[in-house]
Amino acid sequence: MSVRRLAEDSIQPEQFRFSRENAAWAKATIKKYPKGRQQSAIIPLLMRAQEQDGWVTKAAIESVADMLQMPYIRALEVATFYTQFQLKPVGTHAHVQVCGTTPCMLRGSEDLIKVCKNKISEHQFETNEAGTLSWEEVECQGACVNAPMVMIFKDAYEDLTPEQLADIIDRFEAGEGENVTPGPQNGRHLSAPIGGLTTLTDGKANAGAKSNGKAAVKAPKKPKEVAASDGVKPAAMEEPDEKDDLKMLSGVGPKIEGVLNSIGIFKFEQVAAWKEAECAWVDGFLKFKGRIEREQWVKQAEALAKGGVEEYVRVFGKKPR
Ligand code: FES
Repeated sequence: MSVRRLAEDSIQPEQFRFSRENAAWAKATIKKYPKGRQQSAIIPLLMRAQEQDGWVTKAAIESVADMLQMPYIRALEVATFYTQFQLKPVGTHAHVQVCGTTPCMLRGSEDLIKVCKNKISEHQFETNEAGTLSWEEVECQGACVNAPMVMIFKDAYEDLTPEQLADIIDRFEAGEGENVTPGPQNGRHLSAPIGGLTTLTDGKANAGAKSNGKAAVKAPKKPKEVAASDGVKPAAMEEPDEKDDLKMLSGVGPKIEGVLNSIGIFKFEQVAAWKEAECAWVDGFLKFKGRIEREQWVKQAEALAKGGVEEYVRVFGKKPR
């Protein structure tokens, strides 16, 4: 459990004031709560104060307490309890909160902390020289099924390897944080199994219930299987000296990239040439059930093969991951 105290007086500003826009937002937010319950707006208001100034100052806590007509100590209790509130200045581009609780620790959070120490600062809550990055270890963030993970401001980055975290930190440092896709970084959808369904894939349990004379529970509808044999295996190539970074395709993480490489797919131009039959084969092979079409791999690959990141941005209006 971290010790959470207000920053020293010497760096505390004397005053806090919401910007005009934020003051209007705060007023509207307070109105959402029933009469006599306005104090419940404490968390959104403190969060807005943090977003405005980068951290939660003593003056901000007191100002918000005044707005909600509550004792300062009550507002202080809230600000010092939740680790989402930063009580001293943090990195302006990213403050990396690494979950160090048991599931994340067992899945490698200590290595993620090493990355933060190497790339940002030896000690948590210290910014790097430029003042753009900082980090801290926090308790469970509720994403244990995607361990290990970090939070950066409001977004969670999950299923992380140390290399991926290093890359994410570099991108935030370069001011490209908004182009980093949050969520699992290993290609799986949310917390779904990475290799597709492993249970409830047939009706055997239902058949057993019938033979016992028990009322049969309707088996879940079996999703349409797309067997690799439904399509055409895409043309493979020998591993070239220079492979494309297939992880730039959304939906492709390091594991899927490895599988694609194992079947001789190394270049965007190969993916760009896939027709329906090739997509169906790869869909079945990876047990993706439509993800290739959903994520528009072919269109993404076409753009990247044609003109790299610039063309991708022109087509999709954002940078690839
Ligand atoms: S233990 Fe890390 S998110 Fe729960």
